[in-house]
Amino acid sequence: MNPTLDHVRQQESQFLVPTYDRVPVLFERGEGVYLFDSEGRRYVDFLSGIGVNALGHGHPAIQAAIAAQAGRLIHVSNLFFHEHQARLAAKLAALSGLDRAFFCNSGTEAWECALKLARAYARAPAAARKPKSRLLVMTNSFHGRTLGSLATTGNKKYRAPFAPMLPGVTFVTFNDVRDLEAKFDDSVCAVGMETIQGEGGVNPVSPAFISRARALTREAGALLILDEIQCGLGRTGAMFAYQKYGVAPDVVTVAKPLAAGLPLGAVLATHAVAAAFRPGMHGTTFGGGPLACAAAIAFLDEIANPEMREHVREIGDYFRDQLLALKPRHDGLVDVRGAGLMLAAELESADQAKSIVAAALARGYIINRTHDTVLRFLPPYLIQRDHVDGLVAVLDDLLSGGSVNE
Ligand SMILES: Cc1ncc(COP(=O)(O)O)c(C=O)c1O
Repeated sequence: MNPTLDHVRQQESQFLVPTYDRVPVLFERGEGVYLFDSEGRRYVDFLSGIGVNALGHGHPAIQAAIAAQAGRLIHVSNLFFHEHQARLAAKLAALSGLDRAFFCNSGTEAWECALKLARAYARAPAAARKPKSRLLVMTNSFHGRTLGSLATTGNKKYRAPFAPMLPGVTFVTFNDVRDLEAKFDDSVCAVGMETIQGEGGVNPVSPAFISRARALTREAGALLILDEIQCGLGRTGAMFAYQKYGVAPDVVTVAKPLAAGLPLGAVLATHAVAAAFRPGMHGTTFGGGPLACAAAIAFLDEIANPEMREHVREIGDYFRDQLLALKPRHDGLVDVRGAGLMLAAELESADQAKSIVAAALARGYIINRTHDTVLRFLPPYLIQRDHVDGLVAVLDDLLSGGSVNE
């Protein structure tokens, strides 16, 4: 017999380090855009494991790739070759316009690697006449939980318990060109930002800000590093969110959906930047293993289909329009924003946002709250209009004060 929610909760409270305040649902299986819990209840997944399950659950191409690879070879050390890393890197290079990839296991590791690359590049003999090590990063940003990522994450609440942080980090007010200009000088080795801030409330970078960051870094021989861990790989309807801005970064980080649910992150860089690393300067035991790479190749093959991206754009616009249509009817809904299937509805009240997330769950819709007042939607790319209509009707009712179980 499968364990019950109560049993699992009790065991976790006894044996796990208390890092998570979990929602009391025990998921047992997934199918397409649906998840099923231990009581047999079905939910429409508008969160995809925070942007991971972009092809939903149980996708046949992903299942087949994982099953085939698991039967052949699951792990081999990075001391040796296997067939998939270079194939995957070549695909990412073709899609991103960058040249080379380093594979790791998570978003935070990808960001750490990007920071190390920036520091190493600044020290490489060709790059700098004067030593540079400062990193300019953004207020309200989120790059992960390891110490380098944390030190460059804007929200103080994540950093404070672990001070002191990495030296040489300066925060720029996101989207404030003047602040960027004031803080940028020739001691800066990189400017780093999310193209669309995720945890910070789904805030796209402004065209003026990203263009200025590109111009300043280019003139000074510093790097522009974009974190596309949440917004990249098809989520906005473009392969990478920066492609909509016409800006070419030096380094890009991706993770979340890359291996369709298996842990895999990647740093993509130009030839010149990648050359700052020599063998032995960076590495990982698990990163870029055959199983995760095989899944990632299958994932990229699926999303390389232009119809898939067209669907994300079309359904994303539809979803956004439906959310916008709620705005005039509900004073508490102050903004709707985002791109493709990375959307947000900002409410006036954090309490209301919290209770709406819980009530939507009780009605069979998984959504999330970030930055206290922001309802965030990161559904699988396979979501259809009837799913959107169902959720929007529930939100409409809940914003009107509807109760949990109607
Ligand atoms: C933009 C961004 N960067 C980095 C991370 C960290 O990724 P991970 O949790 O895989 O370490 C996240 C996770 O939410 C993210 O959204």
